[in-house]
Amino acid sequence: MLACRPLLLAWILLSVVQSHTWRACTDLLPLDLLTVALPRPGQAPPTQVQMVQSRGSRGLRLTGAPPAALSFSASQIFTNCDGFPAEFSLVATVKVQKLRPKTSEFLFSVVKEVSGSLLLGLRISETRVHLQTRLPGPWSRLTFKDVPLDNNMWHTLVLSVSGQYAALTVDCGLPLELKQVRSFPSTLSTRGSRFFIGSGGRWRGRFSGLLRQLVLLPGSDASPRLCPTSEPGLAELSVPQVLKSTPLQLDQQRPVYPYEAEARVTAGDRPRCSEPELGQLWLDSLRKGLSICDGLMWRTLLQKKDRLDYLEDYQDLYTLSETFDVEIFSIPSEGLFMAAANRDSGPGSAIYRWTNRSFQLYQNISTQQARAWKHFTIKNKNFLVVADIRRAEPELSVIYRWNQRLRRFLRYQTLETHAAQDWEAFQIQNHSFLVVANHRRARDFSHNIHSVIYRWNPETKGCPLWF
Ligand SMILES: *[C@@H]1O[C@H](CO)[C@@H](O)[C@H](O)[C@H]1NC(C)=O
Ligand SMILES: *[C@@H]1O[C@H](CO)[C@@H](O)[C@H](O)[C@H]1NC(C)=O
Ligand SMILES: *[C@@H]1O[C@H](CO)[C@@H](O)[C@H](O)[C@H]1NC(C)=O
Repeated sequence: MLACRPLLLAWILLSVVQSHTWRACTDLLPLDLLTVALPRPGQAPPTQVQMVQSRGSRGLRLTGAPPAALSFSASQIFTNCDGFPAEFSLVATVKVQKLRPKTSEFLFSVVKEVSGSLLLGLRISETRVHLQTRLPGPWSRLTFKDVPLDNNMWHTLVLSVSGQYAALTVDCGLPLELKQVRSFPSTLSTRGSRFFIGSGGRWRGRFSGLLRQLVLLPGSDASPRLCPTSEPGLAELSVPQVLKSTPLQLDQQRPVYPYEAEARVTAGDRPRCSEPELGQLWLDSLRKGLSICDGLMWRTLLQKKDRLDYLEDYQDLYTLSETFDVEIFSIPSEGLFMAAANRDSGPGSAIYRWTNRSFQLYQNISTQQARAWKHFTIKNKNFLVVADIRRAEPELSVIYRWNQRLRRFLRYQTLETHAAQDWEAFQIQNHSFLVVANHRRARDFSHNIHSVIYRWNPETKGCPLWF
């Protein structure tokens, strides 16, 4: 039973269509009224017409232009004869900010040139859409109620007239239908009249919003050609090419309109950049850069140059006594470390670890007046050797080894040194060497002492080679 209703309606519509034939004065193809009104490629556009990009789509703001600037003679599209079609659809995509109560604005009108009287017009007001004609009787004014359009969003209207029926579809939703007692007549002559886009000609009611699409489709209901679609507010039958190309492409063939986009600037982390964000700016305060979204990716407009000719104070680190040396090294899988050689034996020296973008104290190590640290690796093992200068027996310096399990440096080996000033580690082929710079023997304060080179012995783990 349910399936019968649409069939019945279709049958009624079909019989209405058949019973009421009219001669088509145009091809039964979409007539893109907006494109007809705009200048041809290569011609200058009316300067008062502004192209505006909003939420990723462009429309024209016509308020600044005199009504005649966007008008054309009806004979330009009614080429075979002058009768306005008895069956037609009007498709409009608009974006309208709040309208004042009790005002209405024309999306377009057809006006007699000599008398200036209105032949046909499509108007919107706060919550209504009106089709106004010069025809006497039921078709003189058709009003669809409760159609709120002025919410600053893109909306696509399809108003179709067929026989006794008129239907309005907004954003591919359910159609609002009105039935009149008689069919829309085929006696509406457009002879000597003009189309005005975004105005009622000499009539008041300039369209204040953005107009993206305005199409007259003679002979049929346009909504099946547009709907369903993923973006019903921007459903498209025919949109002027100039509103589709990207403004970043400088195309000499097309008129260049004064262009405006809702340029929003986002700070902080890298925002999204896709088609709806086209023209958006991103201020990267961390790297001091400014980028524009080209619809696909961020393109850098400005970027701070990296300067390497100066140093900035980054972190103050308080050590427990005078620090003679720091050694910075990394342990794979652990990160970056710093060993500080401190003078006082009491608190000793310390190892710091890079954590949360700064060096933090990691491990205290007891040293005897440390002078220097040296980090070295042998077969992936990490070692640290300290140069101690204590002037008392036994005179020792210590090698520490990183313990992977405890994640600490543990004492590994002690070597006799004499007021050691520094250590150096190096390799010759696959042999590892350590060399210490001795200064003075504690026993007799003799400076006449040797420095020593040690060679790593894989069997005995390090023994003096010569001195
Ligand atoms: C790093 O800093 C954050 C916040 O300042 C803190 O919550 C976190 O515990 C710190 N991590 C370490 C390893 O100290
Ligand atoms: C290292 O020694 C200092 C001073 O003696 C003490 O405040 C600190 O807690 C110690 N830190 C560690 C990680 O042992
Ligand atoms: C160096 O390599 C040779 C052969 O390539 C090997 O016999 C020797 O044990 C290696 N020495 C060390 C210290 O690894």
